[in-house]
Amino acid sequence: MTDPLVLKLGGELLESLADRQRIAVLAASVAATRPLIIVHGGGRAIDAELTERGIAPRKVDGLRVTDAATLDVVVSVLAGASNTELVAALVGQGVPAVGLTGVDAGLGRAVRVQNHRSTSGSVVDLGFVGDPVEADPALVELLLSRGYVPVIAGLGVDRDGALLNVNADVMACRIASSVAGSELVIAGATPGVLDAQGKPIPVLDLAGIDDLISNGTATAGMVAKLSSCRTALEQGLSIIRLVDGRTLGGPHGVDDAPGTTLVATLETTEGVHKKMMTTTPTTDVPTLESQHVLQTYRRLPVVFERGAGMRLFDDHGRAYLDFVSGIGVASLGHAHPALARALADQAATLVHTSNLYFHPLQGELAARLSALTGLERAFFCNSGTEANEACLKFARRYWHARGETARTKFVAFTHSFHGRTMGALSVTWDEHYRGPFAPLVPGVTFASTDAPDALDALVDDSTAAVIVEPIQGEGGVRPLSAALVRAITTACTRSGALLIADEVQSGSGRTGTFLHSPTIGLRPDLVALGKALGAGVPVGAAMVSARVAPAVAAGDHGTTYGGNLLACRAALVFLDALEGGLLENITRVSAFLFDRLRDLQARHADRIVEVRGAGLIAGLECKDDAAPIVTAALERGLLVNRTATRVIRLLPPYIATERDVDEAIALLEEAIRHTST
Ligand SMILES: Cc1ncc(COP(=O)(O)O)c(C=O)c1O
Repeated sequence: MTDPLVLKLGGELLESLADRQRIAVLAASVAATRPLIIVHGGGRAIDAELTERGIAPRKVDGLRVTDAATLDVVVSVLAGASNTELVAALVGQGVPAVGLTGVDAGLGRAVRVQNHRSTSGSVVDLGFVGDPVEADPALVELLLSRGYVPVIAGLGVDRDGALLNVNADVMACRIASSVAGSELVIAGATPGVLDAQGKPIPVLDLAGIDDLISNGTATAGMVAKLSSCRTALEQGLSIIRLVDGRTLGGPHGVDDAPGTTLVATLETTEGVHKKMMTTTPTTDVPTLESQHVLQTYRRLPVVFERGAGMRLFDDHGRAYLDFVSGIGVASLGHAHPALARALADQAATLVHTSNLYFHPLQGELAARLSALTGLERAFFCNSGTEANEACLKFARRYWHARGETARTKFVAFTHSFHGRTMGALSVTWDEHYRGPFAPLVPGVTFASTDAPDALDALVDDSTAAVIVEPIQGEGGVRPLSAALVRAITTACTRSGALLIADEVQSGSGRTGTFLHSPTIGLRPDLVALGKALGAGVPVGAAMVSARVAPAVAAGDHGTTYGGNLLACRAALVFLDALEGGLLENITRVSAFLFDRLRDLQARHADRIVEVRGAGLIAGLECKDDAAPIVTAALERGLLVNRTATRVIRLLPPYIATERDVDEAIALLEEAIRHTST
């Protein structure tokens, strides 16, 4: 069984029929892919009913003081209208929901909290309030195994069979801790946990939770929430997300809703990072590598062991805000729940069969890529360089099929980077990469990106294809000028040469549209894709137009792994997320990012020469070598990367928010200040 999701819904999210219907549509899509348990509160409805009956509602640290009369109201509202109305909305959306309370089959066995010590220090008798000491998950697990969705109201029962009012957050934590493998998401009407300035906090650990409670920043209901989450984390839940439930079923799904992630440990202080950089890592990973791994990479001194969303964690448990995303690859961030589930499910079903046989996912992925790119067919491979290799071969194959066998040459550009295999390397500009491997594929000419007018003379009837990156990534985040785009289009149209767009870095949504070529006016015959497309799983694709596709026949090209089930499943999950709201996120966050980067440049005009890029690829060209700034950023818990010596490149995951941008800019600015001479 896939891991269950325990979704706790605050009562304030369920007040109107429209609210419940929106949540029910979301629940239907979750329940279609994994077991779902809903726990709900009824806060404001209970308050309203109490007031109606002339009883003043009273709460201490978010827990309701419950005398006998209040308990009557709590039971009648929670087990009555609140639960039934939510179940009705779910059933209306085809979700097989079953209404329960913690009383049923001992799900919420509770002991009465007689003396609650409040955060102000006083001891308060909360009345008939229970702490659910045990959650017997048998009934819930039985329902899940039969495909039902349990919908549980926060009531408990003590050993004598007396009813108790149980806080729904506490109940959800208890259930999540007792149902094996479950993930807990608590949805409320706030944008997560807020700091003293009222700004949402992205990630909190146990120490952070304690601080917020003891310094009074967390108040009322948030104290109860955080305290129960704290216990659940101590008892072994690895991660809990407190999300803004008002966005659910609107711009966001459960997996990408904005909010606060709670984890057990997280060390982010600058001091701790610095200390790490000056001490040898406790593991001997670098030593072992230095003995046995071919030394082709100069790695920074950090060993990453796990990730969550926008963060990576090293072998000391320290957190880093990731604005590199594995060089534009981890498009959904790290340990994305939907991707993790899909990959686990696919691994348990079928990973690889070879291209000797059909499987159900390759055609589906090709059809979706075709719709997104306007190019008819896909050839699947495993990396960006292979995608370019395929495009170069298909271009030659096209002219060969037409009998123009001498039309074999390629025109590429200065500052280009297309990969490290022989063909892709042959159209890569930097001599540093090429020199030691000569002779490369003959017939390649490099046109200057700074001299659009000179291009036409270089493209003729011996040119098979022109190959270009719509934004040159490794070359220093250099967008193509409008004049160069016009020159490329003119030269290809006049000579008939094919156009290959290398969208390995700029494509797959990076700039807010699936491809960047159409945005700038390029109409390629072949497009190379890679990086973000597999969200971390190696996936590459060469997209081929209707003009070129018929020239490529069975046996012309192939690869063992290309387009296997695991790879296709990853890419399909990625496309679901991209089309399910991420493209809009990229566009919105990009506007914010570039505003902030330009402000940063204005403040450090002596250090930053230019800000370039689009969407979520940004380059800051510095006056000097950018390496010291990149290292200083790493010491402060921010990952950025240097390219073309003087350019700081930002390639955050597509799930980045404005808050992440603010945090990244603050850390980057510290790094810039720290390295000033
Ligand atoms: C534009 C472009 N093309 C091709 C490649 C090569 O991709 P890979 O490293 O997956 O082979 C890269 C890698 O950075 C790239 O940026």
